[in-house]
Amino acid sequence: MPPPSAHRSAAVALRGPTLSFVDDPFQAGDEAALRYEPDGLIIIEDGLITAAGSHAALRGQVAPEAVTRYPDALILPGLIDTHVHYPQTQIIGAYGAQLIDWLNEYTFVAEQQFADAGHARAVSRTFLDECLRAGTTTAAVYCTVHPGSVDAFFEAAREYGMRMVAGKVLMDRNAPAALTDTAQAGYDDSLALIERWHGKDRLHYAITPRFAPTSTPEQLEAAGALWRQHPSAYMQTHLSENQAEIEWVKQLFPRRADYLDVYDHYGLTGPRSVFGHAIHLGEREWQRLSETGSAVAHCPTSNTFLGSGLFDFARARQPQPPALPVRTGLATDVGGGTSLSMLRTMGEAYKVGQLGGYSLSAAKALYLATRGAAQALYLEDKIGSIEAGLEADLLVLDLKSTPLIDFRMKHCQDINEALFVQMIMADDRATKAVYIKGRLAYSRD
Ligand code: GUN
Ligand code: ZN
Repeated sequence: MPPPSAHRSAAVALRGPTLSFVDDPFQAGDEAALRYEPDGLIIIEDGLITAAGSHAALRGQVAPEAVTRYPDALILPGLIDTHVHYPQTQIIGAYGAQLIDWLNEYTFVAEQQFADAGHARAVSRTFLDECLRAGTTTAAVYCTVHPGSVDAFFEAAREYGMRMVAGKVLMDRNAPAALTDTAQAGYDDSLALIERWHGKDRLHYAITPRFAPTSTPEQLEAAGALWRQHPSAYMQTHLSENQAEIEWVKQLFPRRADYLDVYDHYGLTGPRSVFGHAIHLGEREWQRLSETGSAVAHCPTSNTFLGSGLFDFARARQPQPPALPVRTGLATDVGGGTSLSMLRTMGEAYKVGQLGGYSLSAAKALYLATRGAAQALYLEDKIGSIEAGLEADLLVLDLKSTPLIDFRMKHCQDINEALFVQMIMADDRATKAVYIKGRLAYSRD
């Protein structure tokens, strides 16, 4: 044992099996990209990870009484949801419709309630509580057209200390009057919200035109101008989710080459843009996404629930050279999606892959919910891995969260099989604890 003076005085630590990525498994292969430490130690000071490795190597650096032990669990980076609508938490599981009818019958009805700031505050907290219960520590979030829905969300996220991306939805046509702004008002409100929230603590603003059919050319133009004035902000929208939607976009923007070209034309592609769904894309659009450094958010539970189609993992992440991969994160897309659990989302991503002839390994699925999602958001220097210098947002996963999972785990040969069983069978019940910047933010037991 080293003398006590060798201990980092303000440090705390978590000990247990740890798993994280040092590379991209789609490019480097699963073995090379994954770091599994059967008895790991993560040392945390002032909310940052200052050392991570094997307990044997690092034990001398922290006082034994500062170590919290999780022997039967798996410590992961906090999970990242790259596309979700917090106001739709109240309409998860709405029956019987595909995208456009679903928006009109359920979504646009629910979103009108967010004119009431009290309602927005209450749902923000419910949503963030559910994120924590699911092990999600960062998300890219759509609010509603009401600026108050953004204030409510950011106020709550700030209080919870979570790193969050969010923005006011822009809609100036093809939606109920109570949910529309104008090109000018949408610009002014978004600018005021950027000035109020962007870069404050762990919060990032996202300029959020809902999708091409609900914005006039003037509104998309204004959104592009705003982003050029504030290039460190994000831009999030929906792209090529549903065939009827794509036909509609063709009618509304007949001079554009394809759906992505609508956004591209108004300067809405590039680093920190996140396009939800991206299912029915042509090769030109894939190439344009990669060359502009734009990201896509794959939302598998939404795509099966709304009957939208199958995401092309191979084209997005392992294209035929000389084509380049596209930054990709997994996402729940609640309330089109059916669960806020990224484990459920990983399981559904596997099934979407199977239906499309691509078998998504557990390592690749987890990557798309951690380090890969962080890269999609250009946040890999802050979150998404268990690595010195990164923020200590961590999920402690119980590997025996139901009797059946416990039984199944006894027949697992290695960590890859164990991880796969978790992503197919586990859900929020497996979240044992969540740490936000090293502080215990949720404890199941
Ligand atoms: N396209 C435009 N708005 C939405 C939305 O709220 N959810 C989904 N899934 N697709 C959309
Ligand atoms: Zn969405």
